[in-house]
Amino acid sequence: MRELSIVIPTYNESDNVAPLLEKLTAALSGVDWEVIFVDDNSPDKTWQRVADLAATDARVKILRRVGRKGLSTACIEGAMMASAPVIAVMDADMQHDERVLPAMFKKITDENCEIVVGTRYAAGGSVGEWNAARTLMSKTATKLGAVLLGKNTVSDPMSGFFMLRSALFAETVERLSGEGFKILLDLLTSARRPLAIGEVAYTFRLREHGESKLSLGVLCDFGLLLADKTVGKYVPARFLLFVAVGLLGVGVHLGCLAALYSTGFVFAQSAATLAAMVVNFFLNNAFTYADRSLKNLRRGLALFILICGLGALPNIVLAGYLYEVSHLYWLLAGALGMLVSAVWNYAVSQHFIWRRRN
Ligand code: GDD
Ligand code: MN
Repeated sequence: MRELSIVIPTYNESDNVAPLLEKLTAALSGVDWEVIFVDDNSPDKTWQRVADLAATDARVKILRRVGRKGLSTACIEGAMMASAPVIAVMDADMQHDERVLPAMFKKITDENCEIVVGTRYAAGGSVGEWNAARTLMSKTATKLGAVLLGKNTVSDPMSGFFMLRSALFAETVERLSGEGFKILLDLLTSARRPLAIGEVAYTFRLREHGESKLSLGVLCDFGLLLADKTVGKYVPARFLLFVAVGLLGVGVHLGCLAALYSTGFVFAQSAATLAAMVVNFFLNNAFTYADRSLKNLRRGLALFILICGLGALPNIVLAGYLYEVSHLYWLLAGALGMLVSAVWNYAVSQHFIWRRRN
């Protein structure tokens, strides 16, 4: 009977899969395991390398996703394919030390743990050779994450290296938000009860082949996950990000207006409106929708300008009514009008421009 399913998300890891498979084989003798690679159609054809391995090795499976991206959703969908009662999640780049997998497995099978976290921040573990900036970033994210964890606290909630019972995964999967990189934090905060948690320390190794995918967009996704787990019940976290970008747009607008004012107010106001829309479009594409950034920017931008232009109408009508007829204070009337535009722009542009493809 299969005992362990290892889920490995990959993006441009073609030189890592074969050596990793060898390392897993060496580390897991005596355990009946399978490995499920989830590849987001990597340009370097990682999926092809895995498929070649799978042709001669029945333990290897590949899920190739097209038109989708995202580390967390890759882990979730890989775990959905798991056939064993225990699921491990680890990176493809060999930064996670596969030699601790047996100790993790033992904690789940013999010591009654439901989830076991490979940790860099406990005695015997370390982050290895990281630069100061990366260390600080990881520590800060860890502290932020800890705030959300409550009872299910662990020393390394940002770890992408852990093992859990399939039953626990099945119990939480419907509540997972799937945003960004931090699937463990997502799991721990989505469990509605105290869990039996174990930890195994390891040293984070250096990446040998390929590049890290950590980027500004990934950090933004982390913010989105945090927001989703806190205020997400009341307002969609993405809407807050959209509004934050919109506020930056107001700054851009006023800046342009001031700079061009001498050329005539109406011209300056028109140019400032356009500039704000363009800046907002690119910021939303890079951050608010980092997980589904558009390739065809021209079409997206044109649609965005059209949608925001239409969104200005209900704004002006409502604000005008509140001010002229209901005699609301001008600032409040203006702000409520803007809120209507924001909701319209968000809902309509998400539907027509940044639609989730799944
Ligand atoms: N399918 C898929 N889709 N896989 C992805 C994607 C994606 O969009 N982005 C990254 N991956 C894969 C990578 O190929 C790699 O196997 C793994 O996810 C982690 O990506 P890295 O780019 O190596 O991340 P890292 O080294 O910066 O961060 C890792 O270490 C953290 C600990 O600090 C990740 O494992 C984090 O989850 C972990 O918390
Ligand atoms: Mn890595």
